[in-house]
Amino acid sequence: MANIVLNARKKEKINKNIYGHFAEHLGRCIYEGIWVGKDSAIPNTDGIRNDVIEALREIKIPVLRWPGGCFADTYHWMDGIGPYEQRPSMINTHWGGVVENNHFGTHEFLRLCELIGAEPYICGNLGSGTVQEMQQWVEYITFDGTSPMTELRKKNGRSEPWKLTYFGVGNENWGCGGNMRAEYYADEYRRYATYIRNYGDNKIYRIAGGASVDDYHWTEVLMREARHMMEGLSIHYYTRVSKDWSVQGSATDFNENEWFAVMQNALYMEELVTRHSHIMDRYDPEKRIGLIVDEWGTWFAVEPGTNPAFLYQQNTLRDALVAGIHLNIFNNHCDRVRMANLAQTVNVLQAVILTEGEKMIKTPTYHVFEMFKVHQDAELVSLSVDFSDYTLDGQSIPRINASASIDKESKIHISICNLHPAEDEFITCHTANMDFSKVSGRILTAGEMNAHNTFENPSSVKPEPFYGFRQEKGRIDIEMPAKSVVVLTLE
Ligand code: AHR
Repeated sequence: MANIVLNARKKEKINKNIYGHFAEHLGRCIYEGIWVGKDSAIPNTDGIRNDVIEALREIKIPVLRWPGGCFADTYHWMDGIGPYEQRPSMINTHWGGVVENNHFGTHEFLRLCELIGAEPYICGNLGSGTVQEMQQWVEYITFDGTSPMTELRKKNGRSEPWKLTYFGVGNENWGCGGNMRAEYYADEYRRYATYIRNYGDNKIYRIAGGASVDDYHWTEVLMREARHMMEGLSIHYYTRVSKDWSVQGSATDFNENEWFAVMQNALYMEELVTRHSHIMDRYDPEKRIGLIVDEWGTWFAVEPGTNPAFLYQQNTLRDALVAGIHLNIFNNHCDRVRMANLAQTVNVLQAVILTEGEKMIKTPTYHVFEMFKVHQDAELVSLSVDFSDYTLDGQSIPRINASASIDKESKIHISICNLHPAEDEFITCHTANMDFSKVSGRILTAGEMNAHNTFENPSSVKPEPFYGFRQEKGRIDIEMPAKSVVVLTLE
């Protein structure tokens, strides 16, 4: 038994970029998953798979982060421009030592963004690159005047500059991006950020590489030393079965204890966002600087028989719940969280799309993004949830997780997750004076905790119309099935 009380209409907008994604040169994300090349038999537009373009357009990806990840701090962008035959091959040292032929570079990424209607978010190389290299990348993409970089861009077939807003100054610089201390990175950040210029009307939103998980010291130091030179500060957190990295857990073969652990670890994002935000509030009470969760999602053992460095995992109803929980948390914290990027778009970690040759499937996580897209740029409606617990082996977590918004057409959308794998939950949703006459709903659920889509059976888990509610005066009574994600629309 739970109560959801919709409170007064709030002023904050849920930044659509909370529904962002992340695509790295890792495993089969870019190559095969997105880029097949212009001569491929797989239908493509300028080398980019048409099926993937269409699927990504459907979920309205607002922003896409690229080229990494750890790859970003090994990437030298000039290797990825110009005629393909002249682009040097390199070794992708971080992800399996495979050969990277640099066929997917700046022009191809920006074309992808155009095709799917997303804004680009480029992560620069601070770890092993130079200030000059980073400065020139921004100039190459955005400058419209006379300069060597503009000439180079024109020579490579693009006369107009692109619009580029989001630029990351390094990635995980406490680890793969240079193993720096917060104090050292803060100084380096200031140096690199100095040369990231705004050319013409193009205004760059500089994102500082942020903390790993609960490294609050990192956030404190960056805010203290470099806040005047940043518009965003990131954090990264992955949901796993255990805090112990040697316990990876299968993506598809798990018991209730592992289900519970994953739900509990997904909910931990609430504490992380709250505590990092509190530090930011002390230095930036006006909330000018965004908290950018530019890597999140599940991380399980790779699919048996696949390259361990490629991080290819299946995606089940459990991942869908994790996605719903995160997106609800980000919505509810939209006063500070301005962007979030699920890792990663295709074939890597909590992917929304999996491919096998010419075949493509949409994962349960994909469907959550499709159902939740109604929240993009809508106004947050704050709510309080009074829930019963889901208890297992003496540990308890809330059964219900939710958020709500009101869109431009005054439709109210409420997204609710029931985390219990076996028990339905009766919810009374108190709607007070909200004005609506019709309620409709969609649900994502399945019979088994590990239900997932395969290339043979691509539609085992997909949204269905939801009728398990009754509209009463001032409230909606909802019979929320076990292990489900529901989005209700009140209009
Ligand atoms: O998403 C996979 C990797 O996880 C990224 O490259 C890195 O930034 C993080 O550690």
